[in-house]
Amino acid sequence: MCGIVGYVGSRPVLPVLLDGLRRLEYRGYDSAGVALQNSDGVLIRKACGRLSVLEARVTDITEAGGFTAGMGHTRWATHGRPSDENSHPHCCLSGTIAVVHNGIIENYQRLRHKMEQAGHHLVSETDTEVIPHLIEEYYQGDLVAATRAAMTELEGSFALLVMSSDEPGLLVAVRKDSPLVIGLGEGENFVASDIPAVMEYTKRTFILDDGELAVVRSDGVEIQDGTGAPKVKPVFDVPWDVQAAEKGGYPHFMLKEIYEQPKAMEETLRGRLIDGGIFLPEFGLDAETAQGIERIHLVACGTSHHACLVGKYLIERLARLPVEVDVASEFRYREPLVTANDLVIAVSQSGETADTLAALREGRRRGARGIAVCNVVGSTIAREAEAALYTRAGLELAVASTKAYVTQVVALTLLAVELASLRGLLGAQELGQWVSQLQKLPQWSREALALAPEIETMAQELARWEHAFFIGRGLDYAVALEGQLKLKEISYIHAEAYAAGELKHGTLALIVDDIPVVALATQSHVFGKTISNITEVRARGGKVFGFSKDKAMAQYVDRMLVLPDCPDLLAPAVAVIPLQLLSYYTALIRECDVDKPRNLAKSVTVE
Ligand code: G6P
Repeated sequence: MCGIVGYVGSRPVLPVLLDGLRRLEYRGYDSAGVALQNSDGVLIRKACGRLSVLEARVTDITEAGGFTAGMGHTRWATHGRPSDENSHPHCCLSGTIAVVHNGIIENYQRLRHKMEQAGHHLVSETDTEVIPHLIEEYYQGDLVAATRAAMTELEGSFALLVMSSDEPGLLVAVRKDSPLVIGLGEGENFVASDIPAVMEYTKRTFILDDGELAVVRSDGVEIQDGTGAPKVKPVFDVPWDVQAAEKGGYPHFMLKEIYEQPKAMEETLRGRLIDGGIFLPEFGLDAETAQGIERIHLVACGTSHHACLVGKYLIERLARLPVEVDVASEFRYREPLVTANDLVIAVSQSGETADTLAALREGRRRGARGIAVCNVVGSTIAREAEAALYTRAGLELAVASTKAYVTQVVALTLLAVELASLRGLLGAQELGQWVSQLQKLPQWSREALALAPEIETMAQELARWEHAFFIGRGLDYAVALEGQLKLKEISYIHAEAYAAGELKHGTLALIVDDIPVVALATQSHVFGKTISNITEVRARGGKVFGFSKDKAMAQYVDRMLVLPDCPDLLAPAVAVIPLQLLSYYTALIRECDVDKPRNLAKSVTVE
């Protein structure tokens, strides 16, 4: 989604804004812009394209301009194609009030009509542009009051930064359903959509809640609640270091994050495997509550949704509890059957995905207990849930999620084992075995990473195709879905995943000579069945890349990768790693922008 950044203080403003935008580019990168304030007024520069296009357009702006405040925006288009006019910041009629926005103004057409009737001339196709005009209508020398008044007319979601040439040194920040953090400095303050944009300068932050407004000046920040009354908020100290936001010698964030997976898994497990048992105090689950759960609903989007499919399999298999997995954007609109004895678990890396947040709210509205499995500490989903299990993957910046996925899988595995134990389905000995196997997961993932050279060779063959298929059964099907998504996201190869037994019911018609089919077979009880499906594919000319722990697969496939020998039920977090690497190398060969795939954004904060 869009990224916004603001600064008030004595540093050169432009570099702070550009640096913040660079760190927020994962939220959108189809255009960018800045607004800078000095005693002469507000200067706006914006450009369609990557941040580098904007950078080339601001080379004449120097410290001599005496700018003391500014704001910037990197866009992921929702209303209006990427263009210079549609880029943010947007301005009012007189050019005095500038706004950057993340979110969607749902009633913008009605407001636009109203503004035009009042004599305003709007030049863009965006929903955002009505906002500075609306604020201008209310403006009587007090930007905070005018912004607050305008907010009452806005429907939808918004994180806004507002500045006026009539009130130098002031930024007004408001939030409704889109994230915003305030970075607290000495004689300077920052605002951003996300923490990475400010953490080079400060680790002390306020995380704004819905309906709150921040009055940001160089010498202080005042938070006001929905009525305008001042509010005291706790300072949130950022747990990551700045190095986490750098590539650390890797050519891409994605590769760095793939290689961080063993460490990330260790973090997910840290302190949660104690004395031969699972320790998840965050969830507040005891035997009585666990026995009382009737159904679990896992809600998530994208890669997190695929982690939920693994979670469903494990919870049903181990804890014998029915689990439904919903794509979060579907959940609230299908009148889901949820009761007070149900558990709704929202799974999200960012903790800000609008669809997942809405699904969590829907589940809670229907009486269920709502809990979160999140990576970002203090994110909206984590805060709104009754309990949060943090996955501790660390900062993930590549748009294509990798380490967040494996840590979600590990966290959901912990939950499945814990539920099974609390429901009396695992004896002490079995539980002890689970604990010792879980401890070995990081090592198996290291072994999977060591397969990189073989995977690179496979990628050479895959890269020349425009279509590919992924097949697997049971947990392998869930992993196949994630594998095909990775390939689509970053290499733009059209890929589809099928339950291996389902391919023959239609899609087999698409198997032609040499078409690549990635087949996963890590689940011993269905190994033979998957092999049968592989032979069906090969009989029709398909070229099969096999991934299995069982070397016996080699004779049935064109090329085989022998996976680390881990237990079947723990295979997803290990088997996905070669698939991530396969996508990565394929994308490199196809010269795709691995960290910033076209049309995508890492955190989607609109529905
Ligand atoms: C976006 C990203 C995906 C991600 C999904 C859910 O679509 O491009 O990579 O899986 O959002 O994000 P979340 O932060 O909720 O896990």
